[in-house]
Amino acid sequence: MKMRPIGAAMAVALCAGAGAAQEAADAAAAGRDLAERWCAACHAVADDQPVAADAARPFAAIAADPAATDAGLRAAMATPPHPAMTDPGLTEDAMRKIIVYIRSIGG
Ligand code: HEC
Repeated sequence: MKMRPIGAAMAVALCAGAGAAQEAADAAAAGRDLAERWCAACHAVADDQPVAADAARPFAAIAADPAATDAGLRAAMATPPHPAMTDPGLTEDAMRKIIVYIRSIGG
């Protein structure tokens, strides 16, 4: 009986952790879909995609670059050559998910 409160607390902690991990996985998957739709014309958004435009770094390279902060990614998305980024379809939520996806391939 003494173990019970601890066990319950651990169960709650484990569930909370699993929920957050699931949320991140969902956001990354949604971000990949969005990236394939909005970004793949120029960037290689996944390993299995051939490089589309020389000047646009593959997302894996961006993910591996310690200088590429979240704020930097947002700023890049909002400046040329990213005219599509001004489309109302690319919402704040979509940008957040794309960033989660880019982070998820960073390793
Ligand atoms: C029309 C082609 C095009 C599309 C579509 C495009 N990009 Fe880019 N992107 C570029 C080019 C070209 C550069 C390099 C710009 C430079 O070096 O000034 C770039 C640079 C970037 C950078 C800065 C990368 C770095 O090397 O640090 C980020 C971040 C980025 N793009 C994200 C995105 C995201 C996210 C999307 C989709 C929502 C997207 N881009 C769609 C062409 C594109």
